[in-house]
Amino acid sequence: MAEPLRFAVLISGRGSNLLALATAAAAGRIAGQIVLVISDQPQAGGLDHARRFGIPTAVRPLARGSDRAAWSRELDALLRAHGVELIVLAGFMRILDPDFVGRWPGRILNIHPSLLPRHRGLHTHRRVLEAGDPVHGCTVHFVSPELDAGPAVIQGRFAVQPDATEESLTARVQQLEHIIYPRAVGWFAGGRLTLVDSVVQLDGRPLPAPVIEDSA
Ligand code: GAR
Repeated sequence: MAEPLRFAVLISGRGSNLLALATAAAAGRIAGQIVLVISDQPQAGGLDHARRFGIPTAVRPLARGSDRAAWSRELDALLRAHGVELIVLAGFMRILDPDFVGRWPGRILNIHPSLLPRHRGLHTHRRVLEAGDPVHGCTVHFVSPELDAGPAVIQGRFAVQPDATEESLTARVQQLEHIIYPRAVGWFAGGRLTLVDSVVQLDGRPLPAPVIEDSA
């Protein structure tokens, strides 16, 4: 049996995706172990989830006006010191600089609360409502230097109901996130998911990102 994948989860907030990932790893649905949780926010609720699972934590704030390149290098060193093989961004609200991303080719995943390439950036639920989009969802993708633009791995999608609100969309999206993120990380940990020349491959075949439909 291969060694369990050593992965790190980077958070800024509540950490519900971290909780889903830690639960999946503890249940054996991910052949891997979260070896480190890093938050840029000292008060992030997700740090409590990590502590409950006995996962080491580190807090690395990026102060306004401070040196982003030096901060990135410190993160990089910390991750390597923990033998991290995959970086999982789970509500981490900092942009990683291109040098950092370039040092982890095919080894950073992110989850984004929209059906990328639609609605990169912030306030996705509000923008879905403003645009009158008929469908909404979330995307797991490999991270590239350009924000929210790396190749998609899997999406969760649902129809937007006429009475939808920002709150209801947030809840539906998060439900789906907690399904698709552990699945994608599980694929990676099982050696099934790779990024080859910017093309996502699952089981050695190029992927059109699979879609999980939620018709509930
Ligand atoms: C998630 O919905 C995630 O998609 C989003 O932040 C939330 C974090 O929730 N990420 C982004 O907006 C990144 N641009 P969580 O802290 O409960 O996992």
